[in-house]
This record gives sequence, structure tokens and C-alpha cells, in this order.
Amino acid sequence: MWLLLLLVAPCLTLKTHEPPPPVPNTRNTPSEEWLDVRLNHFMAFDTDTFKMRYYVNSEFYRSTILIFVGGEWEISPGWVTGGLGLDLARRVGATLFYTEHRFYGQTRPFNDTSVSGLRFLTVDQALADLAQFIQYIKSNDYENGRYRDAKVGLIGCSYAGSMATWMRLAYPHLVDAAFSDSGPLFAQEDFPEYLEVIAEAIRSQGGEACLNSIETSMEGLVQLLATQNGPATVSNMFNTCSTISATAPLDLATFFWYGITETFAYLVQYANPGDIPAACEVLTASGVSDPVQRLANWITSQPWTQPCIETRYSQVVENHRNTSFDSPDAVMRLWTYQTCVEFGWYQTTTSSRQPFLSTVPLEYFHEMCKDFFSSYFNEDLLRSGIDRTNIFFGGGHLPDRVVTVLGGQDPWSPMGPKAAAAHPLAPLHIVPGVSHCMAIGALDSTNITELEAVKRRVLDQMTEFLIGETMASAASSAHVSMALLAIMLAFIHV
Ligand SMILES: *[C@@H]1O[C@H](CO)[C@@H](O)[C@H](O)[C@H]1NC(C)=O
Repeated sequence: MWLLLLLVAPCLTLKTHEPPPPVPNTRNTPSEEWLDVRLNHFMAFDTDTFKMRYYVNSEFYRSTILIFVGGEWEISPGWVTGGLGLDLARRVGATLFYTEHRFYGQTRPFNDTSVSGLRFLTVDQALADLAQFIQYIKSNDYENGRYRDAKVGLIGCSYAGSMATWMRLAYPHLVDAAFSDSGPLFAQEDFPEYLEVIAEAIRSQGGEACLNSIETSMEGLVQLLATQNGPATVSNMFNTCSTISATAPLDLATFFWYGITETFAYLVQYANPGDIPAACEVLTASGVSDPVQRLANWITSQPWTQPCIETRYSQVVENHRNTSFDSPDAVMRLWTYQTCVEFGWYQTTTSSRQPFLSTVPLEYFHEMCKDFFSSYFNEDLLRSGIDRTNIFFGGGHLPDRVVTVLGGQDPWSPMGPKAAAAHPLAPLHIVPGVSHCMAIGALDSTNITELEAVKRRVLDQMTEFLIGETMASAASSAHVSMALLAIMLAFIHV
């Protein structure tokens, strides 16, 4: 039979969502619970609270608390019923919790996402929510003090991985160990490295010819858009929702970002084995002589360009100004807010080592911040917010008892910790060829040998940090492991 490959996918791109839940592997039905936490942790006299949601699976409880940290998405019970978190819970005897980040999902401090309330949407407030949560779970108020002396481990991927590392940095008395998969640790305004890694992944899995063909297609596309009937032709070829206004730079940037670079970002961040080579077959098809048509053929076949590509910047703005929690763009509004005041991380084309020319400039994102939220959210605010974030967390220092995994072809990996930051109590595993958030999947859920080996190391190291058991494979002296075996990129018969 075919072994099902459950490659866990990304967050932190345009269309953020929860990593796809793993296959359930528990007899328990998780329970949903709520805790009142402070709205503003940093003002002692302000005692307002809101309800924070979490899931619990206590099937394996003996002595430990494990928390799968929710990021910029709505939580579902899936991540307390399977995945590497549950494997670790089984091994160390832990109750597995899954916390929802303030403002995302059902954890709503206000009735809507108006800018006035978003001032409480920061990572430092979210970390303090987690701290209050841990203190509560360990108190006599929760289950008669059952967890009073429990050790606490955190697991997170992507932004939630950053949160796991930063919890250990900010609250070492509450967090005994943390595992971050693919967590960025440095805030940065312009993030050109993102598309560089996308290009590198395409080169290594799809070949140099594929990368060259994309660049040729982009050159043809830009030239075509500058001709008189070009915009109508391109709009037709790429199935845009309306005719591109080629004289409006913000509309052009919208087309190139939503339509082109984000589509490639999705390909690489989500890549299942074989996906990139399959895309490259279309992108280099010898039967289609027009390179722009080859690009259009692939772009319009992708699920995230359906039903049509929005190129009207004004429409994008209108969608993201909607302050209803039920608006389809609510999560992106919230995440964009965090990028505008705390992180940046704008995936521009400012590097020359990527095939998308200069189609998505940094100014595009500056405009978004101002237009979604107000002219107050300008570049000065962004830069001072990024400095603030890096003062809090961006020193590049890895606290002890933190295990980190980075994917060698994860476009987020340039924002992860540097190899030199690793030390024996903060091991760093770099898995070549794999993408974003791949290491939080259950043991044996992929055929990627090195990834499975790294997951086992992570379980060993977390077990050691949490309950002090030294496992055989943790005895290895290297604290940076660079997996050397070739990654198997094909489905395998079993
Ligand atoms: C905002 O989104 C909600 C939910 O989709 C919708 O009902 C409402 O009409 C939208 N508001 C505006 C002003 O477009």
C-alpha cells in the first residue's frame, strides 16, 4: 500500500492557518476549556480579563505538563490527539494542552478587530497569557492541584515555535523545556532571504532549467504588461478577477505578490515530495513555446489562485479593513497587524538571487500597514516596533533546555537561530531538503529518513530536559546536527 505522507505544512504566509492536524492516536476525547486571563499583563491596576480557549488530553498523565502552543490560527482538537506532541506526552507521561493565541480563533478579547483593541495584540502579551495559563494549571485551583509539581514543556512550530523559545527566555521559572520547529527569532523589516530560499528549493528539486524558465517567464510577463493590449491579455491568461491596471503600481504589486510569488511560496512551504518537480514539468513544458503561457498554465492550476486572482489593491484593502471576526480576511488582518507593529518579515523581491525580478517592493507592505490600519502605522512605527521586539527577544541567544529544528529548504530558516548560538543545552538540528513545520508530525509519519531521525533526537532531548532521563541517542556530543543523508523525495512503496 502507499504509505501516507503527512508532511505538516506552514503558517506565516499570506493565508495563515493551523498546521494540518495529524492522524488521531489517542483513546481520549479532548476537552475544551476556558481560562480568564488578563487583557493587559503590563499594567498592574488594569484587571480586565478575557477568555482564553484551550484543549486538554490527559490520557498519558503521570507527572508532566506539555503545551502545544497555538500561533496565528484557530486551534482544533487535532494537535492534542496526535503528532509529535502526543508522542512526547506518551513517553514522558504528560497531559497535553493546546492553547489558543489571543485574538485568533475563538479567543476574542473584544467583539471585533478594531484598531483600538489591537493594541493588546502583541507577542509579549501572548507570552504573558501562556505564563498565566501555566501558573493556573499548576495551582490548587485546577484539578485539585494535580499538576502542582509538574514539569512544563512547550512545543510550537513557526511563530508558535518562536513563542516556545521566548517563553523559556522570558519565564524560565515556569517553563522547563521547549521545542521550536521552524521558529523565526529575529524581527526584520525586509525579508528578501525568503524568496532566495524559494529559488534555492526550486533549483535543487526542480533543476536550474526550471529556475531559468521562471525568470524568462517573468521577463516576458513584465514586458507584455507594458504593451497596449498586454494587461488585457495577461488578465485573461492568469484568470485575474478584473483587468489589471498596469499603470497602478499597487495593483501590479498585488498581482505579482498574491498571484505569483505567494503561489510559489505555497508550493515550497507546502511541498510534498514530488510537488516541485511536478510544477517544474509544467513550467518548462517543451510543448508550450511561450514562457508567459507556461507560467500562466501552472499559476492558474494552483488551488490558492482560485476562483480568480485579485489584483485590485483597493479591494484587498477593503477586505482587510473589515473588523468582523467572521470576515474571510480576519486572520490575515490580525497577522498583518503583528507584522506592522512587531516583526516586519516582508517577503520582497529586493534580492537579485531570485527569479521574480523587482516586482514586489518593500514599499508595497508599507502601504498595506497604513491602508489596513491608519496612517499612524507608518515605517517609523514599524522600525521602532522591530527594534522593540529585538530588544526583548532578538539577541540571537538560545536559552538552555530549548531544542530547535530548522528545515534546510524552509524559507523561514534564515530568521532562525544561527548554528553558532547552539550549545549542549540548546541543540539545533538542521534537516536538509525539508520545509516549514515538518518536525512536529508524529513519529514515522514520513519516509524522510533524516527527518525521522531528528524527531527521535528531539524526543530524546526533550525527555532528558523534562524528566532527566538520558537516552542513548542523546549521548551524541554534537550540538549542531546537520543531517547528511540524501533526503528521499519520492513516495515509497511499502
Ligand atoms: C465584513 O465581513 C462580514 C463577515 O463576512 C460581512 O457580513 C460584512 O458584510 C462585512 N462588512 C463589510 C463592511 O463589508
